[in-house]
Amino acid sequence: MTASLDIADLKARAKRRVPKMFFDYADSGSYTQSTYRANEEDFGRIKLRQRVLVDMANRSLKTTMVGHPVSMPVALAPTGLTGMQHADGEILAAQAAEEAGVPFTLSTMSICSIEDVAAHTKSPFWFQLYVMKDRDFVGSLIDRARAAGCSALVLTLDLQILGQRHNDIRNGLSTPPKFTPKHIWQMATRPFWCLDMLKTKRRTFGNIVGHAKNVSDLSSLSTWTAEQFDPQLSWKDVEWIRQRWGGKLILKGVLDVEDAEMAARTGADALIVSNHGGRQLDGAPSSISALPRIAEAVGDRIEVHMDGGIRSGQDVLKALALGARGTFIGRPFLYGLGAGGREGVKLALEIIRREMDTTLALCGRREISGATREIIAESPF
Ligand SMILES: Cc1cc2nc3c(=O)[nH]c(=O)nc-3n(C[C@H](O)[C@H](O)[C@H](O)COP(=O)(O)O)c2cc1C
Repeated sequence: MTASLDIADLKARAKRRVPKMFFDYADSGSYTQSTYRANEEDFGRIKLRQRVLVDMANRSLKTTMVGHPVSMPVALAPTGLTGMQHADGEILAAQAAEEAGVPFTLSTMSICSIEDVAAHTKSPFWFQLYVMKDRDFVGSLIDRARAAGCSALVLTLDLQILGQRHNDIRNGLSTPPKFTPKHIWQMATRPFWCLDMLKTKRRTFGNIVGHAKNVSDLSSLSTWTAEQFDPQLSWKDVEWIRQRWGGKLILKGVLDVEDAEMAARTGADALIVSNHGGRQLDGAPSSISALPRIAEAVGDRIEVHMDGGIRSGQDVLKALALGARGTFIGRPFLYGLGAGGREGVKLALEIIRREMDTTLALCGRREISGATREIIAESPF
C-alpha cells in the first residue's frame, strides 16, 4: 500500500481486492447517480486562497466534535455491511479510528455487533440508529448502545424508504452472500478477501439477527428494509429517541433549511448536512452546496457537520470554510478498508490529515479554527 498516495489509489486497490457486488455497493449512488457525482464534483468548483510569507510553523488540526476532542475534524461515517468490504471490517475501522484519534460511527446495519466492536476497542465509538417499526427493538438498540459505552447517537433521518441502487439489484446483493455461479466467480477472483472471510464468523447483520423478532437471516436486504424501516418516522419520534438515549444526539441527513430549523429546535447537539452519499434522493443538491445556507441559518444554535463527496484534506477544509464544524467520510475509509484492512483505513485517514495540514499552511493558517470563509478565493455556493 506504500504506493497509495491518495484516496483514488486506495479506491483502485479496493476494486481489485473486494468482490464486485460489495465494491459496487460502496461505489454507487441511487438511480442516475447525479447527486453522487455532484457531491464530489462540486468540491472542485471551490477555489482556495493562496497566501505567502506568513508563519506556518507549529500547526494543529485538533478541535472538538459535539464536545469530544478529535485530532482532526473528520469522523468515520456509519456504513452498512462494512464487514463485507473486509472481514471484521467494523472492528478494524474502529481500531484505526481510535489510533488516529477520530470518532468511528457504527451503523445499525453493521456486520460486527455493537458489543463486539466495544469488546475490541478502548475508546468509546458513536452508534448510528435506523428507526424500525418495532419500537421495542429500537429501544433495545438504544439501550445496547448505552450499555456498550457509545458516546453519541447518530439518528439517520433520510432513509425511511430505500432509494434504488441499480447495481445492487443487478448484482443480486444479499447478506449472507448467495452462492450462484456468478457470485462464486466474483469471490474466486478475490482470494485474499475470501481467505479472511473464511476465518471469521461475522458474516451477517450482527445488531439484528438474533435480536429482532422473527429475524434469523436477512436473505434480501432491500425487501427487509422495505418491511422493517418505518416510513412514518416523525419529529415527535426524535423527541422520544432523545429522551430514551439521554446523551449526545446527532441528526443525520438534513439538506434543507426548513428541516435544519426543525432539527435545531429538537435540542439535538449537531446535525449532519447529508444526502446519504447520493444514495437516496437522486437529483438533490450536493451536500457542499447545501451547507452554507444551513450553517448560516442554524449554525449559532446547533453544531453543523457535513458529509458527502469528501475525497481529500482540501475538501475537508472547504467544508469547514463554508460553515461545517466537523465532517464525516464514508467511501474514503471503505476504500482503505477494502484495500488493506485496518492499515488501509489508517492510511486513508493519514492521507487526508497530511493533505489538510499542508493545505492549511499554504492558505496561511496554523490552527484549524482559521479555516474560515477567508481561506476561500472563489465559491459558487
Ligand atoms: C456503502 C455505504 C453504506 C452506507 N450505510 C449507511 C448506514 O448504514 N447508515 C447511515 O446513516 N448512512 C449510511 N451511508 C451514508 C454514509 O453515512 C455517508 O452519509 C456517506 O457515505 C457520505 O458520503 P461519502 O461516501 O461520499 O463520504 C452509507 C454509505 C455508503 C457508501
